[in-house]
Amino acid sequence: MEKKIAIFASGTGSNAKKIIEYFLGNDQIRVDLVISNKGTAPVLAIAQSFGIDTMVIDRSSFYQSDIIVDQLKGRDIELLVLAGFLWLVPDYLVRAFPNQIVNIHPALLPKFGGKGMYGMNVHKAVKESGETETGITIHYVNEKYDDGKSIFQATCPVYDADTPEQIAKRVLQLEHENFPKVIEKVLLEAGNN
Ligand code: GRF
Repeated sequence: MEKKIAIFASGTGSNAKKIIEYFLGNDQIRVDLVISNKGTAPVLAIAQSFGIDTMVIDRSSFYQSDIIVDQLKGRDIELLVLAGFLWLVPDYLVRAFPNQIVNIHPALLPKFGGKGMYGMNVHKAVKESGETETGITIHYVNEKYDDGKSIFQATCPVYDADTPEQIAKRVLQLEHENFPKVIEKVLLEAGNN
């Protein structure tokens, strides 16, 4: 039986696109649903262009109802993938999917993580800190922002002359190269225990 993924994204969806493309033609793993908290998020059009179901959520459906968990369980989703999803995952969802929710953060956690640390805020903080390297962290999600067990990290240099935008570009490249492969590894390993 193929393993199904639900991707949660709030914005552009470049990671979601890479993940969808990576699993096209894969008979073991499939992106079954893309969920966004923004009805205008480009990620929804990307999913629809691949014929993948999409769902737009609001705070009440996400935080005060069983709509989402029923939808995910009803579809036999095995892994929830947060790819640029800005809302904190509610406790009921973390409990309903133990070690089945992963997130990608554009820095080397535990540094430069936590509430408010997303997108350019992260790369500005890295730049201001004088760090000579940064990178990505893929981790399991728990009830706190960017706090779950780390699964994978990759690094890249930070040069003095870098702008935060140049750092962001280098980090995004790492995300695209690694997130789909790490998702595959997590799902195939899950099948072994
Ligand atoms: C990425 O920087 C990722 O690290 C963070 O949100 C951004 C998503 O970008 N979680 P995109 O929407 O996948 O292009």
